[in-house]
Amino acid sequence: METIFLDWLALILRWTHIIVGIAWIGSSFYFMWMDSHLEEPTEPDEEVEGQLWMVHSGGFYRVDKIMVAPKIMPNNLHWFKWEAWWTGVTGVLLLAVVYYLGSAAFLIDSDVADITKLEAVGIGVATLVVGWFLYDGMYMSEWGNKYTKVSGAIGFLGLCVVAFGLSQVLSGRAAYVHVGALIGIIMVLNVWVRIIPGQNNLVNARKNGEEPDPSYGVRAKQRSVHNNYLTLPVVFVMISSHYPMTFGHEHSWAILIALFVIGALVRHWFNLRNSGSDAIWPVPVAIVAIIMLAGYVSVPGFTSGEEEGLKRKVAVAEVQAIVKTRCTSCHSAKPTYPGIEKPPKNIKFETEADIRKHAAQIQKTTVTTNTMPLGNATKMTKEERLAIGHWIASGMPAK
Ligand code: HEC
Repeated sequence: METIFLDWLALILRWTHIIVGIAWIGSSFYFMWMDSHLEEPTEPDEEVEGQLWMVHSGGFYRVDKIMVAPKIMPNNLHWFKWEAWWTGVTGVLLLAVVYYLGSAAFLIDSDVADITKLEAVGIGVATLVVGWFLYDGMYMSEWGNKYTKVSGAIGFLGLCVVAFGLSQVLSGRAAYVHVGALIGIIMVLNVWVRIIPGQNNLVNARKNGEEPDPSYGVRAKQRSVHNNYLTLPVVFVMISSHYPMTFGHEHSWAILIALFVIGALVRHWFNLRNSGSDAIWPVPVAIVAIIMLAGYVSVPGFTSGEEEGLKRKVAVAEVQAIVKTRCTSCHSAKPTYPGIEKPPKNIKFETEADIRKHAAQIQKTTVTTNTMPLGNATKMTKEERLAIGHWIASGMPAK
């Protein structure tokens, strides 16, 4: 009962998280696009910096961008901040429901580190809290703002350290999700703690007839640039749990960082285009990089037993026995593993036919990567993985 409840809670949260995330990212893409398409106003107006016309769903729209801030504030000013807020809130709740309240096998991998669930939760939460304060502290400091190349490099190295460190203590999936959560939290707090107060300062200064403090504007701009480059990487983390070849790889953290760099590069191309440049180089570089990464990742540690000197024959009975001890506690009509109430993804391995039907997936999750058994909860050995790989590679013989 409890797990079913958590599943539904996760469904609602994930759904909402994606919807508000789309709204947030969509509005930020939209404003970037508008900024880059402004033209001279058709009728000269000293207050207007640029203007553009649009047509959408049968309506015509004219947008004026005002220089710094309007002399007279409109009564009704729309803010774009709740999308970020709700993306953050639903993201944190989703993390808690799936990884902290759900089965420990999502969070911990006994092959990676023998820690308790409580320790794993502590490490996860501490990373998120400490990570934000280190990032924000650096960019609030005088040197962090003065030598932005140095602070940028430290920030990137810090991200690598977090990705590497988490991959040494949590399951691959949980490590990815926590790196993503840290980036997400940084982005949300950038909006709420640094960007919106900057805009507030402008609005209030104008209302009181004072000159706005420019330092707020500079900081807001800096944090917006960070958020801009972090957008595509964070979206990858959201979908990463579908791709065991990334988080299940022995160098999962390096693959994550490589994908981040590729994502940021593609974003850089958007930015170049938006600033009027025709430069196309980031695209081929990103494509070559992702092909190289795919090549590197698909060189598996072991695909069949042969390399390891496993010369004996493996018949289906042996594979069935392995699957029975290592998989069916979760993957059967009535799972016995605590916290698992129905066969995950409705995948069952009760009969020989089940195993043959899912052979390619079994290969992917237990031989090429070690993502199954989840968190190696049932302590599958390397020899067993090799035996399954060998059986599949030799054409799944019956005897
Ligand atoms: C502790 C419980 C548990 C054990 C034991 C377990 N699994 Fe899973 N398995 C899961 C869960 C949970 C999922 C769904 C993961 C998700 O939601 O992404 C899953 C998903 C899968 C998938 C689908 C993967 C995908 O992304 O589509 C395959 C294939 C799989 N398991 C194979 C196995 C095999 C083979 C074994 C035994 C060697 C095994 N599992 C042992 C819990 C388990």
